[in-house]
Amino acid sequence: MSCRWGFPGQRALALAVLAGALALAGCAGEYPQSVFRPVTDFAVTLDNLFTHVFWWTIVILVVVEVILVFVILRYRQRPGQLQPKQIHGNALLEIVWTIIPALIVVFIAVPTIRTIFDTYEPAGEDALIVEAVAHQWWWQFHYPEYGITTANQLYLPVGRQVEIRLRSNDVLHNFWVPRLGGKRYNYPQRVRPGEEPRYNFLVFTIDEAGEYPGQCAEFCGVAHALMRMMVVAQPEPEFQAWVQQMRAPVEPAEGSLEAQGREIFLRSTCIACHTIEGTTARGVLGPNLTRFGTRWSIGAGAADNTLENIAQWIRDPQSIKPGALMPGTTQGAAGMPPTGLSDQEVAAVAAYLHSLR
Ligand code: CUA
Repeated sequence: MSCRWGFPGQRALALAVLAGALALAGCAGEYPQSVFRPVTDFAVTLDNLFTHVFWWTIVILVVVEVILVFVILRYRQRPGQLQPKQIHGNALLEIVWTIIPALIVVFIAVPTIRTIFDTYEPAGEDALIVEAVAHQWWWQFHYPEYGITTANQLYLPVGRQVEIRLRSNDVLHNFWVPRLGGKRYNYPQRVRPGEEPRYNFLVFTIDEAGEYPGQCAEFCGVAHALMRMMVVAQPEPEFQAWVQQMRAPVEPAEGSLEAQGREIFLRSTCIACHTIEGTTARGVLGPNLTRFGTRWSIGAGAADNTLENIAQWIRDPQSIKPGALMPGTTQGAAGMPPTGLSDQEVAAVAAYLHSLR
């Protein structure tokens, strides 16, 4: 068999260049969920720890490889050579190569443990508290200070300390927005009336406005991969404007398709699960739909937030997000009967939800 490459060395070099190019290609692009572009004090702390450990391991790698290559070349077998002196059972060597790795572990463990404690510092007095309650398969965000609730799209101010209080309504979930730091568990907990819920927590201050995607990081059932979220970090005035917007009802024009949609929404089973601020819809089993039209997606990242997708979702949610715990027009789900809405009714409700912006 003939080969284009004359020497094995050349082929190895070509492979190394190819591998290097592929590795470098990984550095291009946006990567909105990269932990290497931290935007909070929490994420910077984690990034510093990673960088610290990374360079220590590079030093170790270089030292070990240099010794290895030296030994291979210097002590390789030569023709007519006798067997070298055997050193099995050398106590000094055994002690040295036990102590060195133990020291390396200490070098890594000390900053790691310090970082763990740093990231569990409680929040200050005037931190913004957001309760993040995980559900199969979406996120509920409640702001006790403002008395507002939203879902999947989390608005946060830049420059103010935030305490995310984490718990779950059903199974184990995990809150992870890589550029903000984390990840951290949402522990399941049924809260009975009159009982104060207990929370896991995550404290950070965002220092750069932007949109930061995240997702559930613990396998939590069939739609785990479609349990995403979007953090919208804004300067304080814009954040306050959003808070005001969340409290002000959206009034569709008299006689419009949207107004019909609202009327249908409020007389059907939708209100058993959903709340829309400023209306009689007060359900809490499903996501709060106040200002739904401003969200980047439907179904917690399952599809783009377009009129067609909203209509398809109302008709048959499982066709977009298998496992979704919401009944369609002809198919029940999660013990709930089908809604029985006609195509015209679906179009009107979709127009109404789309207009909530
Ligand atoms: Cu929730 Cu995975």
